[in-house]
Amino acid sequence: MEKIILITGGGRGIGAACAIEAAQRRYRVCISYRSDDAAAAGVVDAITTGGGAAFAIKADVADEAQVEAMFRAIDGRYGRLDALVNNAGVLSQQMRVDQMDAARIQRIMATNIVGSMLCAREAVRRMSTRHGGAGGGIVNVSSRAGVLGAAGEYVDYAASKAAMDALTIGLSKEVALEGIRVNGVRPGLIHTDMHASGGEPGRVARLAASVPMGRGGQPAEVAQAVLWLLSEAASYTTGSFIDVSGGR
Ligand SMILES: NC(=O)c1ccc[n+]([C@@H]2O[C@H](COP(=O)([O-])OP(=O)(O)OC[C@H]3O[C@@H](n4cnc5c(N)ncnc54)[C@H](OP(=O)(O)O)[C@@H]3O)[C@@H](O)[C@H]2O)c1
Repeated sequence: MEKIILITGGGRGIGAACAIEAAQRRYRVCISYRSDDAAAAGVVDAITTGGGAAFAIKADVADEAQVEAMFRAIDGRYGRLDALVNNAGVLSQQMRVDQMDAARIQRIMATNIVGSMLCAREAVRRMSTRHGGAGGGIVNVSSRAGVLGAAGEYVDYAASKAAMDALTIGLSKEVALEGIRVNGVRPGLIHTDMHASGGEPGRVARLAASVPMGRGGQPAEVAQAVLWLLSEAASYTTGSFIDVSGGR
């Protein structure tokens, strides 16, 4: 039976690369996104044109009602869920902590950590053997920023990613006997549009020399780690992290 995967923020960047890779591994793919209808439709088209199965749901992960509706839509379509990639994430204009207001910090936390926890909750309710599910896998897309701190750029974002790592560790232990493995991937500097939302589209190029491997990464390189963690090849791996960062 083909497995069902939900990838939040699958319309662009790392999430889109995960969707393409998942389809190649014969998952039926659901991607979510917040606003860019055309980008999400493009990912669905690319998968279905290649003979795979995919659909997109517009849902803000920071909104509990929209998250619940999204999971109900998957229930209605497939009646099961095997894998969740908590990938949707945002950052804001680069600034110091002493310049940040509460609204900005709350927006980052609402999407990156509250949204990830809500999606994890809904996934566990469907996948856990304790709830009658058949087990499954969760991968949280964190960031090396959660370890490095992103000083002078976006410490709020880094803090949200450190919280995501704690979610990975704690949830992995909660559900280890319920057929669910929970792991994290921490990308480094990856070539996506995200850096433009911090006000510096060329950030990866500027910092490439600080990466031991001397370059930024591609979304497809992150997707390989995500899909490996969800695969049977990682059957004894839970509560673990893969840094996909060129050594940074
Ligand atoms: N790029 C990097 O260097 C890097 C490094 C470390 C970690 N990461 C992490 O990797 C993940 C993906 O990043 P990326 O660079 O691929 O970002 P991206 O290119 O900006 O794409 C972000 C995706 O997330 C969706 N999204 C944003 N907010 C959402 C919300 N509230 N609800 C639902 N979907 C939402 C966007 O939807 P729309 O298309 O509709 O806007 C888009 O599909 C993030 O968690 C990020 O923190 C990235």
